[in-house]
Amino acid sequence: MNVVALVGSLRKDSYNLKLAKTMQERYANRFTLRIAEIGGLPLYNPDDESNAPESVVLLKRMVKDADAVIVITAEYNWSIPGSLKNALDWISRGDRELRGKPVMTAGVTPTALGTVRAQLHLREILSSPGMWGRIMPPGGNEILINFAEQKFDAATGRLTDEVTLEFLDGVINRFLQFCAEVQP
Ligand SMILES: Cc1cc2nc3c(=O)[nH]c(=O)nc-3n(C[C@H](O)[C@H](O)[C@H](O)COP(=O)(O)O)c2cc1C
Repeated sequence: MNVVALVGSLRKDSYNLKLAKTMQERYANRFTLRIAEIGGLPLYNPDDESNAPESVVLLKRMVKDADAVIVITAEYNWSIPGSLKNALDWISRGDRELRGKPVMTAGVTPTALGTVRAQLHLREILSSPGMWGRIMPPGGNEILINFAEQKFDAATGRLTDEVTLEFLDGVINRFLQFCAEVQP
């Protein structure tokens, strides 16, 4: 199974990127997780759609070829970072590659609320007609990782908190089941 991760943080030491890498390694025998490059995308401009730059073409192809998408976002000012919104705006145009794909969300903050506000916005965005992803139902599946410093290992940069990993395993199991159910 082929899954694409869109990471809403361009920071080199991003906790959200670390979560993506943790998933990539931890579930390597269940699915292949490819982390999309969204930092180099130009700002979305409708005038550029008919002659989209290579970075956009590559991103859209990656999403098209994926069986499912995981969006892992930082929270900036109570919403998702502009870099992630920009990537989603590109994906929402033309062939609208996310349509019908199973998608789940996750996020990490160093403080208490674990991206709850950003993910609520994200779910609205993913429900818009341009996106129309098949979003994993939230009940019991919300990956809101808070107090990141205590849960990620500073040396390896991986999520190591056992309770959080156990919860993550459960959500990933349910997501894979959800993918099997919603895919033709
Ligand atoms: C511009 C900016 C706005 C932020 N706004 C929020 C916010 O609304 N809520 C929150 O919990 N953290 C906020 N933060 C703190 C981020 O959660 C923190 O920087 C986090 O480490 C970003 O994710 P990353 O480690 O993946 O880059 C903000 C940080 C920045 C730089």
